[in-house]
Amino acid sequence: MSRTPIIAGNWKMNKDVKAANELITALIPLVKDATCECVFCPPYIDLPEAVHLTKDTNIGIGAQNMHWEDHGAFTGEIAGEMLKALGVKYVIIGHSERRQYFAETDETVNMKTKKALELDMTPITCCGETLEERESGKAQEIVVNQIKNGLKDIKDITKVVVAYEPIWAIGTGKTASNAEANEACGWVRKTIQEMYGEDAAEAVRIQYGGSVKPSNIVELMEEPEIDGALVGGASLTADFAQIVNYDKK
Ligand code: PGA
Repeated sequence: MSRTPIIAGNWKMNKDVKAANELITALIPLVKDATCECVFCPPYIDLPEAVHLTKDTNIGIGAQNMHWEDHGAFTGEIAGEMLKALGVKYVIIGHSERRQYFAETDETVNMKTKKALELDMTPITCCGETLEERESGKAQEIVVNQIKNGLKDIKDITKVVVAYEPIWAIGTGKTASNAEANEACGWVRKTIQEMYGEDAAEAVRIQYGGSVKPSNIVELMEEPEIDGALVGGASLTADFAQIVNYDKK
């Protein structure tokens, strides 16, 4: 089965509305012939304008987080329903920075992923081990458990995009080797196969993330288990187009 590659830019806490507008306006013509699904995930306050600017383009807009409840006393939070009403189509869930600094757990990741699917949004659900876990030989166990707990009881797992992001490769300039990235994406797929069966595992898309840049995207995309990338630092300039257009080099 052939899976449509998906490349998403995770802007993290960067770019105010004006800067976001400038970057999106610059990128629209540069990515218009992309063969992959192309997603930008700017900060919340940029979302209305981002959705507006990318209307009638091949770019989908995603948020970087959401709450699983529809409304209520959750100061500072944004509901998935609110994002959906805005025209946001994707949402990153359980990024390692959210797990590390904002106490996200596999349990909240599971609730958020289910809510995003219920709202017909595409969750980009993240997993990945720390350097310490990798060095002590626990990477596989950690990733498998994150998938088993974070993605349990999902109605249609094929609508979830999983991002494997080894924490030691995020923002460090250190990329996992192609073989390491492929192997870990393989752990994710095998776990999904055990949970949901062969067809589901074949259909689900798995991204690699962690210091992806124009110079390493081509070789990463050649790996059989890797169906795309979640890109942080290198998604903050118009050079992101070179990553999205990896197959045109
Ligand atoms: P990076 O971040 O590309 O800057 O390493 C990736 C991510 O955290 O999604």
